[in-house]
Amino acid sequence: MSAAEELAFETLARTISDRAGLTLESYKPKCLKRRIAVRMRACGVHTYRDYASVLDRTPAELERLRDALTINVTRFYRNPETWNALRRRVLPDLVEGRQGRVRAWSAGCSSGEEPHTIAMVLADELERRDRGGWLERVAVDATDIDRESLLRAQAGRYRTEAFNETPPDLLQRYTEAAGDGRLVAERLRALVSVAALDLGEGRAPHPPYDLILCRNVVIYFERPMQERVFNLFVDSLAPGGYLVLGKVETLFGPARDRLAIVDTRERIYRRPA
Ligand SMILES: C[S@@+](CC[C@H](N)C(=O)[O-])C[C@H]1O[C@@H](n2cnc3c(N)ncnc32)[C@H](O)[C@@H]1O
Repeated sequence: MSAAEELAFETLARTISDRAGLTLESYKPKCLKRRIAVRMRACGVHTYRDYASVLDRTPAELERLRDALTINVTRFYRNPETWNALRRRVLPDLVEGRQGRVRAWSAGCSSGEEPHTIAMVLADELERRDRGGWLERVAVDATDIDRESLLRAQAGRYRTEAFNETPPDLLQRYTEAAGDGRLVAERLRALVSVAALDLGEGRAPHPPYDLILCRNVVIYFERPMQERVFNLFVDSLAPGGYLVLGKVETLFGPARDRLAIVDTRERIYRRPA
């Protein structure tokens, strides 16, 4: 980074500290820059100075940045009611109808808790039907823009607290103790393919998908970008495939007209077969 850029970054960091009420000194500079870069990309600006003027003009952006800086948050079985609805209303049809050939995508997977939860609930669904042998037909793509998070996703090893919401039987059957944390079982890790992908690129890794989860990600995007991403998801779904958004995210635009609602509260949608 040039001296001028470094200076612009310091000025921006001071503005953020003052206006967002965050003590940025408590963040690692590398982590801070990475998070700010994610927001800059979402706003379509390339310099710290331009981003500072976006912050000046748009109060909502300050909120999003604050969220972005504090979102190292994800966990296994996050929002249990969503996973319970998925297991009750979606998975039985998916695994039987496709004889276990289920292709899923966790878009914005962070450190991998979500894609590994997908692998767990699919394994559970198959094993309860005596179809454990079909597990090798399952594929879960896990993508995120943040390469450091992806390294953790790849390792599949987590602190015990990451599983606080996980049903005990899933925890016991699909993870094992590893040092002071837990490791996701090898047979599940083998199903999850981790890759870097910026959703702004407008492409999916390996469509068509039977199940796409994109939760707590689009909330940080501007509306036109949200609309593009929603269209990408619908285009990437197989006929009869399902899309799940985060609990505070709402589908709108042309994508909304192309999907049927399965569960309004849990934000589960389906592409007609
Ligand atoms: C709060 S986490 C959500 C993790 C998980 N989906 C969940 O709900 O627990 C949001 C993730 O979105 C990722 N993200 C933000 N902008 C992105 C983009 N343009 N493309 C891909 N991932 C992005 C962030 O790096 C972060 O890991």
